[in-house]
Amino acid sequence: MTSKRPTECFVYVTLPGSPSPVTAGRFVLEQTPAGDPIGRFVYGRSYLANPDAVEIDPVELKLSGETYETVRLNGVFGALRDAGPDYWGRRVIEKHAGITTLGELDYLLESPDDRAGALGFGEKVDPPAPLRKFNQTLDLARLQTTAEALMRDDFPDDPNAPQVQDLLLLGTSMGGARPKAVIEDQGELWIAKFARPDDRWNAERVEDAMLRLAGQCGIRAAESRIERVGGKDVLLVKRFDRARKDGSSYTRSRMISSLTVLRADDAASARERWSYVLFVEEMRRCVSDPKSDARELFRRIVFNALISNIDDHPRNHALIAPERKWMLSPAYDLTPAPLVSQDRRDLAMECGDQGRFANAANILSQHARFLLEREEAEKIITEMTGQVTKTWEETVLASGASQRDVDAIRAAFVYPGFSH
Ligand SMILES: Nc1ncnc2c1ncn2[C@@H]1O[C@H](COP(=O)(O)OP(=O)(O)OP(=O)(O)O)[C@@H](O)[C@H]1O
Ligand SMILES: [Mg+2]
Repeated sequence: MTSKRPTECFVYVTLPGSPSPVTAGRFVLEQTPAGDPIGRFVYGRSYLANPDAVEIDPVELKLSGETYETVRLNGVFGALRDAGPDYWGRRVIEKHAGITTLGELDYLLESPDDRAGALGFGEKVDPPAPLRKFNQTLDLARLQTTAEALMRDDFPDDPNAPQVQDLLLLGTSMGGARPKAVIEDQGELWIAKFARPDDRWNAERVEDAMLRLAGQCGIRAAESRIERVGGKDVLLVKRFDRARKDGSSYTRSRMISSLTVLRADDAASARERWSYVLFVEEMRRCVSDPKSDARELFRRIVFNALISNIDDHPRNHALIAPERKWMLSPAYDLTPAPLVSQDRRDLAMECGDQGRFANAANILSQHARFLLEREEAEKIITEMTGQVTKTWEETVLASGASQRDVDAIRAAFVYPGFSH
């Protein structure tokens, strides 16, 4: 890493159906006179002249010759930030670089090209050739060992030590806080999520089960499976933003989180925009089938309330664009929380007239925004409540979790306050 920090970069995008990127524009990160970060993005002229050009964000960065500016998210536009690592990937990069005070732009430039969505970043005007080599299923044991060492902070300080070099294999730009890596398995890319020593139940098998339970509730959820590696379970979630094209190349879907769609921030002070009700309004304006996606989102809110998934923050929802048009992505990162309160639990985002209250009447209160008649919405809630009540336990067991795991998470499902 050079000592002089970059303040600008080129943004590349892999256009729909194509296996390789083109240059879309330029991003500059500066400071205001008051010292706050301010980001500017402008699409390149030749990109705008390309009839196949697509917008990288349908809300904030529409295709135009304008210079866009933002001071939110440390000056990094949501769509760009969504393509960078979060807690886990940042730790990998910091450890590998031997620096803990990297800037926002460093994380984009230093992170590998396995990032979510179709964007890429670089200091050269022309994009590098796309990544064609990925970790394989066989590498999982080594990746797991490296992830565990990073969780224990068990690395030599010398950046040239082989263990530190191994971090590069792990190095993932995918977001999220849990330890993970990307692997290729028989022509498909998967996110491998590893266990953490402080997990109170088998989080891999439980998440696998929640994705299946969501499917039983009529939700379009990401595909998943479990691999046993070195006596431990690894959850593999199939990436929905990559599709095998031919040979060793993949097409990529653009992807933005609901945090970006909401023009919201992670900071607690900006949480008034963390709202399903606002999200569905924004989403309806940019997706190709608003009715179907709005109903789908309604089901996901009901599901999160039924399984007490209170980690349903705005980076855990996304829009993707496999072609020109946007749609709600498959559901991912579904985790039950066996909370103590029997009366009131809150989702991470507002879901009705009574704020974040994970309660059927509250969720129903905004049915019209989800393009549902009251009776239809009631029917969905009744059916899903019946389904979750009836099959959550057998679904968790069928994913290979133990009876002890089932008992540990029992309090998460259909808590009394949901229907009161
Ligand atoms: N199947 C998938 N295909 C493509 N991208 C995905 C998929 N699943 C997750 N992602 C992306 O990867 C990010 C991290 O995944 P995920 O949310 O499952 O991890 P996590 O570490 O459990 O997150 P959190 O910090 O919210 O607990 C997501 O925010 C999303 O951008
Ligand atoms: Mg997540």
